[in-house]
Amino acid sequence: MLLSEVAKKLVDEKLKDHKKRLTHVYGVCEMAEELAKRYNVDIEKARVAALMHDYSKYDDPIENEYMLTDEEKEECKKFPFLYHAYFSAYNYKKLFDNYDMDIFNAIHNHVFGRPNMSILEAIIMISDFTEKNRTYDDCIKCREILLNGDMDMAIYESLVATQNVCIKNNNPIHPIQEEVLREYERKVKNR
Ligand SMILES: [Fe+2]
Repeated sequence: MLLSEVAKKLVDEKLKDHKKRLTHVYGVCEMAEELAKRYNVDIEKARVAALMHDYSKYDDPIENEYMLTDEEKEECKKFPFLYHAYFSAYNYKKLFDNYDMDIFNAIHNHVFGRPNMSILEAIIMISDFTEKNRTYDDCIKCREILLNGDMDMAIYESLVATQNVCIKNNNPIHPIQEEVLREYERKVKNR
């Protein structure tokens, strides 16, 4: 059985009571596959990372905190939306023998990427923002840019949009979020 078939079975079972979330996960998988083809990334890896990226979306932070490093615990207290990404990554590692570090990183960092991320990490992060079931204006705009072939610009625009939402809602900006935004700003403005 292909690893992506294993991942699909696992996530189907895990999110069986969250049909909308599953639809989102399949959307991310479809977009990630398309981008993997375009950017010469292993399609199986892209599928597994996409299918597992929200695996732990509804897992209880207190029950699962043991999986995290002390640093991650502190970080998640300030930025609780990171819990699901970290738990999903650790569960991927636990569930797959011979886990792949690039897939682990792509799941772990899917919320706002990280400086100098791999192409797979970038693909999962931007697929999460632009998959076809996302209907916000910002997502539609980024999807257009992405499908026109400009992944760096799509990532830049997605980071700007996310930061604007944080500012509007008075949520703190994570230093990594800020750093990745600056990195992509340099990329798209210096060409
Ligand atoms: Fe997601």
